Amino acid sequence: MNNFVFLFVISLCGTPISSLSVERTNRISGGSPATDTQFGYMISLQERSQLSTYTRGHRCGGALVTLRHAVTSASCVHEIKNKQYVVINATEYRVFAGAVDLTNDTSTDRHRDIKKITVHPDYRPNTPYVNDIAIITLASEFPSNAVSTVALAVTDPISIQGGICQSSGWGSQNETSSASTQLMHIRKAMFEQTICREIYSEGMGETIQINIINTMLCAINFQASSCEGDLGNPLVCNSNLNGILIYHRSGCSDEPSAIPDIYTRISSFRPWIQETTTPSGASSFQPGIALGLICIIQIVTAKVLQ
Ligand SMILES: *[C@@H]1O[C@H](CO)[C@@H](O)[C@H](O)[C@H]1NC(C)=O
Ligand SMILES: *[C@@H]1O[C@H](CO)[C@@H](O)[C@H](O)[C@H]1NC(C)=O
Ligand SMILES: *[C@@H]1O[C@H](CO)[C@@H](O)[C@H](O)[C@H]1NC(C)=O
Repeated sequence: MNNFVFLFVISLCGTPISSLSVERTNRISGGSPATDTQFGYMISLQERSQLSTYTRGHRCGGALVTLRHAVTSASCVHEIKNKQYVVINATEYRVFAGAVDLTNDTSTDRHRDIKKITVHPDYRPNTPYVNDIAIITLASEFPSNAVSTVALAVTDPISIQGGICQSSGWGSQNETSSASTQLMHIRKAMFEQTICREIYSEGMGETIQINIINTMLCAINFQASSCEGDLGNPLVCNSNLNGILIYHRSGCSDEPSAIPDIYTRISSFRPWIQETTTPSGASSFQPGIALGLICIIQIVTAKVLQ
């Protein structure tokens, strides 16, 4: 098939009929509590030594892209130990998913041991935010009736005033706490890349200077701002995973900020994510074919519903 036609088909699929109704309900409120099944792909990476605390040692967010793999930021899975910037010890952490309240973790359906943490091979501590992505492989799958997974974006939507993207997370609601036990969500919009690059090239106001490259994307908040514990949070547009939060300005408030947040652009890392999360030997063409079929099914369904 001609590449152009193929991309066109995929972008049509990028606005599935089902997301339109989700969109409508989200528009009722802004920074608001999530419901149990709304963000089933959302994970909390938790430090085992802190599990007795109210927020269960929540470290950062991420998204399940298969029942056994979560995507998060590389910085989220690093720590400073003996003055060295090293990957965290996987056995000292666990992954929580499948409920909106961090304290609702009594069922073993909602947490998993970590088998392996794979940091992007080109992530370098001395160039932070570049290739800032990692994959957490769980020791065993989450039950499919307890969680959901999110599809990887192929392209990114244009900036739309009012926001068509969603971000969810257990990040703090204010500067005095490190996390919120209740999963919250906010609407976001893509932010013009060239303007974002200008804002961050200066390091204006509360932001630091960051070289915004094409494998990053910027999105602006409505109603609230990102806070501590929000790194790794997914940016989901039209039901696809478009970004993983890698930077937000310091200071948290429930006021919207004019400074956009920075995300790792998932469409740039799609091949690497697929390679890392697919058992070797599987054809990389299968997802494309499956997407095409889903698209046809959606078009047929839409016709039937009309
Ligand atoms: C990881 O943590 C476990 C449990 O605390 C410990 O036994 C193990 O030695 C640690 N591994 C490394 C590489 O530090
Ligand atoms: C715990 O989470 C499950 C699954 O999301 C949900 O069905 C249940 O109502 C939650 N329980 C409480 C006490 O929040
Ligand atoms: C900060 O947020 C936490 C929950 O995230 C809440 O329990 C606490 O009361 C808040 N503190 C203030 C000063 O608003």
